[in-house]
Amino acid sequence: MDPTVRKVSLTGIKPTGEPHLGNYIGAILPALDLADGYDSVYFIADYHALTTIRDRALLRHYTRSVAATWLAAGLDPDRTTFYLQSDIPEIFELTWVLSCMSAKGLMNRAHAYKAARDRNREAGKEDLDAGVNMGLFNYPVLMAVDILIMEADVVPVGRDQVQHVEYAADIAGAFNSVYGDRYRFKVPVSVIPQDGSAHTLPGTDGRKMSKSYGNTIPLFAPEADLRKVIKRIPTDSVPVEAPKDPDSSAVFTLLERFAEPELVAATRARLAAGGMGWGEVKAQLTEAINSRFAPLRDRYDALMAPSSELDDLLVHGADKARKHTRPVLERIRDAIGIG
Ligand code: TRP
Repeated sequence: MDPTVRKVSLTGIKPTGEPHLGNYIGAILPALDLADGYDSVYFIADYHALTTIRDRALLRHYTRSVAATWLAAGLDPDRTTFYLQSDIPEIFELTWVLSCMSAKGLMNRAHAYKAARDRNREAGKEDLDAGVNMGLFNYPVLMAVDILIMEADVVPVGRDQVQHVEYAADIAGAFNSVYGDRYRFKVPVSVIPQDGSAHTLPGTDGRKMSKSYGNTIPLFAPEADLRKVIKRIPTDSVPVEAPKDPDSSAVFTLLERFAEPELVAATRARLAAGGMGWGEVKAQLTEAINSRFAPLRDRYDALMAPSSELDDLLVHGADKARKHTRPVLERIRDAIGIG
């Protein structure tokens, strides 16, 4: 293998929610760090979101919001390839091609589909496929295409997505075994950059910060909203004068993650000694998060403004991606005998 050719790392981001601090620490920063040393590809998987989002304004909002978040977090659109999945028509043509090479049984065993059937079974429904659309069922094929068409070597994902990357490898193998003498897909592997405590952020209730627990802190909320969310973090009702266990509330664990070490040490000592109230710690936390994220928030707000440079950046990113996807699809059409 030519060592001068850099390996390709590809990450897909499904725009199904408002980005929060846990996403930033747990997924965005590790994925951006990993990009050093690879040819990095990032895209917004907006058509994957269509399997669940039926509100046109919301789908559009999440798509722009997630794109703006990654750019504000430091994604460099000149050094990476950054685009919307829906801007790359080759992906959808190849999805049909690879659907024809994918075993249905493989899709039957996909975690998300199985989970939907389990929910129906538990609810006592006779039709275990109730509420399951073909988009959900075909989701792994579309994701395989996302990966394979960009000839990615590595795919940084969360644990829940590892099976999907294995499916992509399987599907690549199925294609290669028939047409490999004319076109060979690269066989991708997953990497899990999010593991380890450095990347797990506690939410407002002390459990891992996650949208499904409802314990998130928004990433780019105005300071007043941030203050409100932090005010609601539960603490014990020990009076101000009394000594407190700093580690009894998520306020302090979060402060440890975002404030200067000197402030954290001083606060720990003052809480333990008594005389410091949780309200003051909450103010410190608000200040720490706000000062760290204010510059990013300004950039985010500018990108979210109507007809900001966000749209141009995405158009440019799609052009760059299609320089790759067009010839790949050409070769595949030729390999399979189409056109
Ligand atoms: N399914 C991924 C998720 O829910 C998003 C995604 C779509 C993706 N296509 C991808 C991730 C390709 C990695 C590679 O998080």
